[in-house]
Amino acid sequence: MDRDPTRNLALEIVRVTEAAALAAGRFMGRGDKEAADHAAVEAMRLVLKTVSMDGVIVIGEGEKDQAPMLYNGEFVGNGSPPEVDVAVDPIDGTRPLAFGRTNSIATVAIAPRGTMFDPGPFVYMNKIAVGPEVKGKINFDASVSENLKAIAAAKRKAVKDLTTIVLDRPRHESLIAEIRQAGARIRLIPDGDVAAALMTAWPDSGIDVLFGIGGTPEGVLAACALRAMGGEIQGRLYARNEEELRRGQEMGYDFEKLLTMDDLVSSEDVFFAATGITDGELLRGVKYFGEGAETDSLVVRGLTGTVRQIHAVHRWEKLQNLSPIQY
Ligand code: FBP
Repeated sequence: MDRDPTRNLALEIVRVTEAAALAAGRFMGRGDKEAADHAAVEAMRLVLKTVSMDGVIVIGEGEKDQAPMLYNGEFVGNGSPPEVDVAVDPIDGTRPLAFGRTNSIATVAIAPRGTMFDPGPFVYMNKIAVGPEVKGKINFDASVSENLKAIAAAKRKAVKDLTTIVLDRPRHESLIAEIRQAGARIRLIPDGDVAAALMTAWPDSGIDVLFGIGGTPEGVLAACALRAMGGEIQGRLYARNEEELRRGQEMGYDFEKLLTMDDLVSSEDVFFAATGITDGELLRGVKYFGEGAETDSLVVRGLTGTVRQIHAVHRWEKLQNLSPIQY
C-alpha cells in the first residue's frame, strides 16, 4: 500500500463512522431496525465516496440483489490509490439501537486489497479474543479451562479474577457451564461482539477474554481492530446445520480450519474506526443538542499501533449546507 495516502485514511474513515452514527442515532428506541439500518448505510456510503482510496467491499450488507447499497463487491472511495479491501458494519447492535439499549456502534475497517478474509454467506464463527498481554498465549483448540489458566498466568491473576464476555444465546449453554466450572466471571451481553472483542484490548474495560459464536463479518472487523491494538482473535467457521456445512464445502470453505489473525486479515497495514451510536462502556453514544451533536470515536492504525479517541462536535447549520444527509 502506498504510504502517503494511507497516512490520511485513519482519520478519513472516522468521518464515515461518525456519519453513520449521527444518522442512525436518531432511531434509538424507535423500534424500527430497518429504518435505522437504512439511515446508517446511506450516510456511510455518501461519506465513503469521498475517501481517497480504491476500495472494494469484502464485508458489507450482503449480496447485490438483497442490498442496494454497500453490497459485497461494490467499489467505494474516490478511485484513487491505494487499492484496499473494505469491511463495514453500519450498525453493530441494530437491536440494542432499535430498543434503546447500550453498546451499539458503527464500524469500518480497511486493509490492502486481497488481505481480508471473505466469509461468503457463512454468517457465524466461533471465536476467542484477547488483548495485548495475552497475545500468543491462547489456543482455540485447547479447552476453555486451559485458555483461562493461560490468560490468568499472562495477566498475573487468578482464574477467579478473570472476566469473560459472552453473547447471551442458548447455543452458549455448554460454554457458559465450562466457564462456570473453571471459576471465572461472566459478562453476558445481548448483542455486539465487535465492541466486546475491542474491550479485551481496552485498558480498564475489566474484560479479559471474549468467547463464543458470533458473526463472521464481526470477527473480521474485530481482527482488523485487534491487529492494530496488539490483541489477538482466533476462531473457526461455524455451520448451523448439515446443509450449511455441505454448501460451504462445495464452495471451498473449510469449516475445520483454524482461522488465525493472519487468516482473518493478513496485513499489518490496517485501519479501523468505530463511533458510538448508543452509550457503551467503550464509546459514548451520539448526544444531540439542538444545533448539532457530539460523537465519540476510536480510530486505530495497524502500522503504528496508534489508538486515537476522537470527540467531535458537529454543527447542523454548516453541515446541512454541504451534505445531502438529513441528520
Ligand atoms: P447486527 O446488529 O449487525 O445484527 O449484529 C449484532 C450481533 O450481536 C453481532 O455483534 C454478533 O456478532 C451477532 O449479532 C450474533 O448473531 P446472532 O444475533 O444471530 O446470535
